[in-house]
Amino acid sequence: MNNASNQYKAERSPTHDLIGQRVVVVGGKTGIGLGVARAAQAAGATVAVASRRNLSAKERPDLASFEQVSLDLSDEASVRVAFDAIGSFDHLHVTAGGEAGSWGTFMDEDMRGVRNYMESKFLGSWACARHAAPHLAKDGTITFVTGGTAARAKLGLAAVTSVFSAVEALSRSLALELAPVRVNTIRPGFVETEWWNFLSEAQRDELRAKVRAKFPARHLGTPADVGHAALFLMTNPYITGTVLEVSGGELLVDWLF
Ligand SMILES: NC(=O)c1ccc[n+]([C@@H]2O[C@H](COP(=O)([O-])OP(=O)(O)OC[C@H]3O[C@@H](n4cnc5c(N)ncnc54)[C@H](OP(=O)(O)O)[C@@H]3O)[C@@H](O)[C@H]2O)c1
Repeated sequence: MNNASNQYKAERSPTHDLIGQRVVVVGGKTGIGLGVARAAQAAGATVAVASRRNLSAKERPDLASFEQVSLDLSDEASVRVAFDAIGSFDHLHVTAGGEAGSWGTFMDEDMRGVRNYMESKFLGSWACARHAAPHLAKDGTITFVTGGTAARAKLGLAAVTSVFSAVEALSRSLALELAPVRVNTIRPGFVETEWWNFLSEAQRDELRAKVRAKFPARHLGTPADVGHAALFLMTNPYITGTVLEVSGGELLVDWLF
């Protein structure tokens, strides 16, 4: 191998490990966030998982290896206090926000659904980035999580569609605002998590059957699938301001509603 290719390898070969790095996952105690927390820990990072509830080792032995942090995305002061207490770290991943089934409809009399959804998912993502930024490493990353409705509106989901699109726009803006910190969004498809528990078991089974039959990947997404993609965004040094779909091809087919 000549000198030029050795130099290329030394300068340009990204690693997939996070040894010695610190990762904070907001929404990391369950679902997609827990998939991200596990992937980061397996790659060598020290991981803090944040959400409203702190869970005892008896309740959740699987969280014992993570630092637990308490914050509520709808309460900016609690977000600021949490990040000031966390201190320096390398990668922020925000999955949380926007309680399932809480979005109301376009014609809601008091617009409470969209206000709550906006407050939690959009302003919550904003608050996390805002109060994490002073503590983030210069070569660190922020990753937000949206969903397929950001790209393909669905009847009855005006609040979700609008808020997810706003989060993706925020992600692009922050890629400029916070550079060289890299800022991206993951847009998952159906992922098997507690998030779907607002539906009955029979409705969930129906959805699972549709996903298996219609999504080009022909299987249900898992939190580990998203964790794998999140690790890629944390470790690839040249990706910023983008949306990465981890959806099994959801947007290529009609499946929901
Ligand atoms: N699952 C899917 O198929 C799917 C597909 C596309 C997009 N998404 C999006 O992905 C995100 C995560 O979904 P998921 O499936 O991982 O859901 P999940 O398993 O229900 O996890 C949500 C997590 O967010 C935390 N959380 C909720 N509200 C919070 C708040 N106000 N402040 C702080 N933490 C809060 C919850 O913990 P606490 O209750 O302890 O606060 C929980 O750990 C959601 O925005 C969802 O819309 C999911």
